[in-house]
Amino acid sequence: MQNPEKVQNCADALIDALGGASSPHARPLVGLVLGTGLGGVADKLVDARSVSFATLPFFPPAGVNSHAGRFVSGFFHGIPVIVQQGRCHLYEGYSPFEVCLGTRSMAKLGIKALVLTNAAGALNPRYDAGALMLLADHINATGMSPLTGFNCDEWGPRFPDMSAVYDAEFQTLALDEALKNGIRLEKGVYLSTPGPQLETPAETRAFRLMGADAVGMSTVLEAIAARHMGLRILGFSICSNKNLPDCMAETSLEEIIAMAQKGGETLSRLLGGLIPRLASTLAR
Ligand code: HPA
Repeated sequence: MQNPEKVQNCADALIDALGGASSPHARPLVGLVLGTGLGGVADKLVDARSVSFATLPFFPPAGVNSHAGRFVSGFFHGIPVIVQQGRCHLYEGYSPFEVCLGTRSMAKLGIKALVLTNAAGALNPRYDAGALMLLADHINATGMSPLTGFNCDEWGPRFPDMSAVYDAEFQTLALDEALKNGIRLEKGVYLSTPGPQLETPAETRAFRLMGADAVGMSTVLEAIAARHMGLRILGFSICSNKNLPDCMAETSLEEIIAMAQKGGETLSRLLGGLIPRLASTLAR
């Protein structure tokens, strides 16, 4: 259930830990959420300050052991950026409100753009294992919403539009940046299940028929909460395994993390050129 007071308390604690409201570290322009195996992107921040989730009121720990569980605020080519390194998930028993607490706290710090990343299984048979996918859209198959219950009007409208969740201009910039760097970037639809079990062959076939290109267990609720608050969003999946109904292979967390780390290096390279370009559209 919505609790604006908890979000404000959490954002206030984060601002304090980053040096107070007048500190540039507490006034980021761009936020990033790094999923499984993607922690490396945060290492590129200059003058980085980190705040452990454990020091923030109500903040759930990052569950999967590949996640660091902290915010890192710093500068990237002079642009103030905050990175949420790790996230909690529905499958750990957390509520949609808890899953979106990081997103909403970063919005309270004043970010205007949010880059969401995750590890996913590829449903599109043309994708290779390790493929990097730009999210063109999503399907919320979690059966839940972070907007259930009372609407916080200060955050956004009761019935927020979802016709363009992932910002069209950001997508164009991402595709252009990939092309310039010789990075193959797929563009497709991400579907989120609540997890934690992976998909059966019949579920995989059904999700593909629904129009999904990749399947995972995160991102969609955060994207809904961020759109509700008016943030411009960009999303990336690293397709750590192929998830094809007629040749299902067993998948382990170790394999997913190893592939995500490999894809994460490419994604870091892409984000390096992309973040300044995203920021330049925000300054207009
Ligand atoms: N299914 C769901 N989530 C995932 C997968 C998958 O195949 N791979 C990585 N996260």
